[in-house]
Amino acid sequence: LEAGIHVACDKPLAVSVAEAEELEKIAREKGLLFLVTYTYMGHVTAKHAKEIIKAGELGKIRTIAAEYPQGWLAYEGEWGGKQGEWRCDPSQSGNTNCLGDLGTHIENAVTTMTGLKIKRVLAKMDKVVPGRKLDDNDFVMAEFEGGATGLFWCSQVAIGHDNSLRVRIYGDGGSIQWFQEDPEKITVIKKDGTLTELHRGYGSIAPDAAKYGRLPSGHPEGWFEAMGNLYKSFIDCIEAKRDGTFTPEMIDYPTVSDGVDGIRFVEACLKSQELGNVWVDL
Ligand SMILES: NC(=O)c1ccc[n+]([C@@H]2O[C@H](COP(=O)([O-])OP(=O)(O)OC[C@H]3O[C@@H](n4cnc5c(N)ncnc54)[C@H](O)[C@@H]3O)[C@@H](O)[C@H]2O)c1
Repeated sequence: LEAGIHVACDKPLAVSVAEAEELEKIAREKGLLFLVTYTYMGHVTAKHAKEIIKAGELGKIRTIAAEYPQGWLAYEGEWGGKQGEWRCDPSQSGNTNCLGDLGTHIENAVTTMTGLKIKRVLAKMDKVVPGRKLDDNDFVMAEFEGGATGLFWCSQVAIGHDNSLRVRIYGDGGSIQWFQEDPEKITVIKKDGTLTELHRGYGSIAPDAAKYGRLPSGHPEGWFEAMGNLYKSFIDCIEAKRDGTFTPEMIDYPTVSDGVDGIRFVEACLKSQELGNVWVDL
C-alpha cells in the first residue's frame, strides 16, 4: 500500500482491529483499492442470495443460522500439516484459530447477503483437543442492527465435514438456504410453502449475479470460479482507475472495510469469551 499498489489480501485481514484499521486508513488516504478474498461471496448463487434479499423477497430479516464445520484438526498432530501448525500457533495466528479462520467467513457471508451489520455478540470459544492453545470449536449468538438475531457455529473438530459453510436466512416473508459445498443452487421457501430450487445458469438468477457465470448449467462452477469472480471485479476496478472511469459503485468484491468488520467480530467474540461469555458490542 505504501508503494502505491492496489492490494488483494486473504482473510482474516489482520490479527487485531488496530492493525486492520491501519490498513484501511492507508488504503483510504492513498486512494487504493483493497480486495479481501472472502471467496465464497464470489459464487453466483451467493450473489443471487444478496439480490433477492435486497429486492425484499424474504421480507424483513428475522433470524439467521449459519455454520462452518470442518474436521481436519480433530486430533492434534495427525492431520494439520503445515496449514494446521501455524493456525494453532498463537505466535503466528494471533489470539484465535477457528473463529478467525472460519468464523470470519460466516460473519462475511451473513452480513454480505443480508446487508445487515452485527451489533453485538455472545461467544463460547472452546479448545476441544487436549493441548491446543487456541480455539477449535466456537458458538456465537449475534444481534444485528434492526433487531435480527443470529446463531453461528464453526468447528475444526467436526469429523465428517470439510468446508461445510451453510447459511439459512429467515425473513417474515420466506427463507433461503445456501450451502458452499453445493453452490450451483439456492433454495428459496416462501411463506405460502412454495419451495423453489434455483440453479445457476438459468433465467431465474438475478442479472447482477448471473453475469458472473462462465459455464453452461450442468458444468459445475465452484471455488476457483468464485475466487476468480472476486478478482474479475477487482481488476475491472483497477483498469477503470487507470482509465479515469472508476466509481465506487463498481466495487463488487469484499473490501478492506469488510476485512475490518471481520476482525471487529473476532475481537468482540474474544472479549465475550474472556469476560465469561457475556454480550459484547462490536
Ligand atoms: N479465501 C479462502 O477461501 C481461503 C482458503 C484457505 C486459506 N485462506 C487464507 O489464506 C491464507 C494462507 O492459508 P493457507 O492455508 O494457504 O496456508 P499455507 O500454510 O498453505 O500457506 C501460507 C504460505 O505463506 C508463507 N509464509 C508464511 N509467512 C510468510 C512471510 N512472513 N512472508 C512470506 N511468506 C510467508 C508460507 O511459507 C506458506 O507458503 C490464510 O490467511 C488463510 O486464512 C483463505
